[in-house]
Amino acid sequence: MISMGGNSNSGHLQYGISRRTFLKFCTAMAGALALPKSAQSTIAKALAAGPRTPVIWLEMQDCAGCSESFLRASSPSTAEVVLDVLSVDYHETIMAAAGFQAEEAKEKTIHAGGYLLVVEGAIPLAEDGIYCCIGGRSAVDLLQEAAANALAVVAVGSCAAFGGLPKAAPNPTGAVGVSEIVKDKPVLNLPGCPVNVVNLTASIVHFLTFGELPAADSKGRPLFAYGHLIHDNCERRGHFDAGEFVREWGDDGHRQGWCLYKMGCRGPVTYHNCPSVRWNQGTSWPVASGHGCIGCAEPDFWDASLYTPVKIQAVTPPSLYPSIEVPEQPVSLGSAAVVGGTLGVIAGVAGSAAYRQLSKKGAAEGEITEEEESPAAPVEPASSEEKKE
Ligand code: SF4
Ligand code: F3S
Repeated sequence: MISMGGNSNSGHLQYGISRRTFLKFCTAMAGALALPKSAQSTIAKALAAGPRTPVIWLEMQDCAGCSESFLRASSPSTAEVVLDVLSVDYHETIMAAAGFQAEEAKEKTIHAGGYLLVVEGAIPLAEDGIYCCIGGRSAVDLLQEAAANALAVVAVGSCAAFGGLPKAAPNPTGAVGVSEIVKDKPVLNLPGCPVNVVNLTASIVHFLTFGELPAADSKGRPLFAYGHLIHDNCERRGHFDAGEFVREWGDDGHRQGWCLYKMGCRGPVTYHNCPSVRWNQGTSWPVASGHGCIGCAEPDFWDASLYTPVKIQAVTPPSLYPSIEVPEQPVSLGSAAVVGGTLGVIAGVAGSAAYRQLSKKGAAEGEITEEEESPAAPVEPASSEEKKE
């Protein structure tokens, strides 16, 4: 155990983990936030300085999956460190107190102010919010009360961010996301079903270190975690560029790990850092497991047609092309090998042209058609059996 300079009462924190683990955590957070390595010491100083920041965690229309995601983080003691630097004064799932005692703890924290409000779950507005009541009060009422004195609000998971599953058509409870209710406080959206604990932890660490929420996109999502399309960082992207698609579950391409675009993968229209951060301590992520991304970090994903190819919105060229230079060498029409090579070059140039044509379509692009489906290599890919021959 290391002492970071005292205890929470003296304004400094004491961690029940080794100094090495603590610094490793700070380095991981700097990396997750895309900050330079030197930010590690800034984060370490800020987290050690204390006092502990109070947190109120409200659960509304949800499955508690985001709480589970947060609590199951075990490397490197993520939950330990965060629970050390935070004072979770109210969290229905994990707090020891219950009933009036629990409500009293929350009231005291709200009255004192200066806390971080984390919200999990959607907020039902239909029929005066009666579809989600806690202690006899509606979720919308409880949210407005808790947001009033909060420093900032973090909406964890797709339900709190955008309404999620409760908002799926026909949305009988009138569910909405937190930012539709809270208008006078900074609200950070961390969609995902569930939230990725690395992104939640890094957002909290950013807030504790710099006193503000991280920079966000137009949907209120932090850019460090939602700044890039899944498609642009996907490990199967090479197969997309080569026109190698899975066409049926369990087919040869599926067994070889080819691109899942034709099976409805929503990676080309979903912004999230799943390919790099992954899940379960970096073990895997949906596409690596053999199923396409279902776009759980985007609004209204439950209402999407999950197995229909999406319309490509932004085609970015692959970072590496094979050379398309025409070799400066005499061409002998009598040489079958040279003719074959030249045809290959022409096919390569045509392929690149097809890709550029696809790119030019810009925002109006559509689904990749059968003719366009192999933008970098327009020839139908051979099956593995054909390749062996
Ligand atoms: Fe990966 Fe899906 Fe894009 Fe294919 S379509 S490269 S599986 S994100
Ligand atoms: Fe969700 Fe797609 Fe990531 S389904 S977990 S955003 S790969």
